[in-house]
Amino acid sequence: MSERSASKESRPKPFLTDVQTLRERARQHLSKGAVTPNYRGDVAKTIEILQSVLATEIVCVLRYTMHAVSASGISSEGVKAEFAQHVKEEQQHMQAVAERINQLGGKPNFDPEGLATRSASQYAEGENLVDMIKENLIAERIAVEHYRELIRYFGDDDPGTRVMLEGILVTEEEHANDMQDLLDAHQGEPARPRGKD
Ligand SMILES: [Fe+2]
Ligand SMILES: [Fe+2]
Repeated sequence: MSERSASKESRPKPFLTDVQTLRERARQHLSKGAVTPNYRGDVAKTIEILQSVLATEIVCVLRYTMHAVSASGISSEGVKAEFAQHVKEEQQHMQAVAERINQLGGKPNFDPEGLATRSASQYAEGENLVDMIKENLIAERIAVEHYRELIRYFGDDDPGTRVMLEGILVTEEEHANDMQDLLDAHQGEPARPRGKD
């Protein structure tokens, strides 16, 4: 037997609740919706974290919308289209996070008051096309770092929230990549291997 399969066998199996108990537990506390007794996270804390994620996504929608509208210059058309595509994807993130807050029994906070403070990324306009691309790249890198940490934080305590964030993270990584490609193209620099600056 290989070492690998031996260590696999010695690992304790996760506990599985029998169907009867699952059925009985599901009937209790119906008003809690998706939050069932084996939810291991702290619901209030999860909602608070997700309010900050929601604010981050709203700020991303606003920033990309502003950039998609105001980008100008000879070679801006492709960049505008990219910004506009990101607006749509940030809106989907915003919607998904708001739905998740609602599922957990919270009220998604769309209040413009305090929005910039609740958000991890910033709203920055940028003076020109290259500045705009840079600001978006910075915001995406913040989101990527933030969401990776949150994914580790939720772990197995709240797989539903974790999986949602994993989906969002993949898109934010693509966004960061798109912005870096645009930056390379518009700064007139030759393409260089990633991470070698
Ligand atoms: Fe996003
Ligand atoms: Fe993004």
